[in-house]
Amino acid sequence: MSQSAGSYIVTGAAGGVGAAAVRQIADRGGNVMAVDLDHATLARAVDAGSGGGELVLRPADASREDDVRAYVAEAVDRWGGLAGVFNIAGIEGEFAMSGEASTANYDRVMSVNARSVFLNLKYVIPVLVKGGGGAVVSTGSHLAWHGAATLGAYCASKHAVMGLTRAAALEYATSGIRVNCVCPSAVDTAMGARVSAAINPDDVSLGRQVLIDQAPNGRLATPDEVAAAGVWLLLDAPSHINGILVPVDGGQAAA
Ligand SMILES: NC(=O)c1ccc[n+]([C@@H]2O[C@H](COP(=O)([O-])OP(=O)(O)OC[C@H]3O[C@@H](n4cnc5c(N)ncnc54)[C@H](O)[C@@H]3O)[C@@H](O)[C@H]2O)c1
Repeated sequence: MSQSAGSYIVTGAAGGVGAAAVRQIADRGGNVMAVDLDHATLARAVDAGSGGGELVLRPADASREDDVRAYVAEAVDRWGGLAGVFNIAGIEGEFAMSGEASTANYDRVMSVNARSVFLNLKYVIPVLVKGGGGAVVSTGSHLAWHGAATLGAYCASKHAVMGLTRAAALEYATSGIRVNCVCPSAVDTAMGARVSAAINPDDVSLGRQVLIDQAPNGRLATPDEVAAAGVWLLLDAPSHINGILVPVDGGQAAA
């Protein structure tokens, strides 16, 4: 299946992976509603690409039900339907041992990383069903199937993304809707830099090297590589590909 156009929502659109995804979809001629927390950051990060589609910058919190309901309704009003959503919004939260972690951090990380995926499935899928099909891609992590010390809430939230993806893939398989997930290891973005700093606050480059050493190919993922895997699942993947988690990790998942 290869689509050149259609209308898509991208959450976390002002981040490293998000901005790359918006540009790649826009370059294919897609209309994109770019969702992130504030307009100024979106305006700085996101560009309309070369494909001639419409780009809408939509400040919203993808973990708040009122916001998700409103931006999905706006996209439908504007474009008459949707071809899919790429859920990318995410935070790493605080780094703390499980015996010392804050409940507020757990709630916040689960809300941004998992509740946002739940809400976007809840409001986008009925639109896709009505339109006769479409695709959902969410962003998991290497930590959707592994643990990492001091990142319990983050690990839990990404395991939850895996569960939400698999359940919805089964539910809508006969409705022409594919629900899949990209699972990066460390990516060269603002989040990757924050994780490097948390690993070694005294020397961020040594923290970054720890992440590089975890990847069999000896480097971080680029935001474009992660976005490209998601855009492939969204626009190009064969229609029989459903409910999968695609590692984008230089081979780390093979270990
Ligand atoms: N960077 C990594 O090393 C890495 C590794 C594995 C998975 N991931 C996942 O990839 C995704 C993208 O991460 P990134 O590296 O581009 O990070 P990033 O920090 O560059 O971008 C994340 C974006 O999400 C936005 N966001 C946060 N909360 C939001 C909310 N409630 N509503 C809307 N937008 C919100 C932020 O404002 C930011 O623009 C995340 O889901 C992250 O968990 C990242």
